[in-house]
Amino acid sequence: MTARARSDDRVARTRSGLELRVGRLGEHALPEVAAIERGAYPTPWSLAMFTTELSKPAALHLGAWDSDRLVGYAICSPYDGVWHLLNLAVDANRRRSGIGAALLVELLRRLEENALLASKPPPAVTLEVRRTNGAAQALYRRAGFLEAGIRPRYYPDTGEDALILWRTPATLRGRLDDVPGVSA
Ligand SMILES: CC(C)(COP(=O)(O)OP(=O)(O)OC[C@H]1O[C@@H](n2cnc3c(N)ncnc32)[C@H](O)[C@@H]1OP(=O)(O)O)[C@@H](O)C(=O)NCCC(=O)NCCS
Repeated sequence: MTARARSDDRVARTRSGLELRVGRLGEHALPEVAAIERGAYPTPWSLAMFTTELSKPAALHLGAWDSDRLVGYAICSPYDGVWHLLNLAVDANRRRSGIGAALLVELLRRLEENALLASKPPPAVTLEVRRTNGAAQALYRRAGFLEAGIRPRYYPDTGEDALILWRTPATLRGRLDDVPGVSA
């Protein structure tokens, strides 16, 4: 499937020197998204879940393409003034080459730019991650996320706990004081 370039696409160079095109994810990419998703999670999202998320006009969904091949994506939606990173996955054959980090950096950059343009405070971003998912936790911690709580047995497929991570102005200083519901 040929990816369509858009005017707000950016070129991102990963730490390994790979040049990616990072831009908005459209419905045309869903077959490739579904293939990556199947290799990423024990319980993958259905196509209907992706279609629902992609139809939300206020949301931000990014794909990363290497020479027109989708290699990763990020799905992020706002609820009650907080951005929720709902899904971030990289092609299982292309991991550990900086693609996940490039997607996350571009996502955070766009959220920050949009907040600035709207004269709003820097965005708060939250997500849930499996307790055993050390790779994702390391990626998020490097990007300024901190653990602020646990949802016990959150994942029905394995009964695993979720760690609740936040990225706010305070977490970037190693603190949790502006995280909703947390007094640190
Ligand atoms: C988590 C995921 C998106 C990371 O993508 P990636 O492209 O491999 O990550 P990057 O190469 O950009 O790695 C960035 C940093 O994250 C950390 N990291 C990534 N994979 C790691 C691993 N397997 N073990 C330890 N740290 C890891 C490292 O700090 C890494 O930096 P380094 O390579 O300089 O040490 C990918 O592993 C994935 O798709 N996993 C399945 C889906 C998933 O779990 N998504 C998260 C849901 S919350």
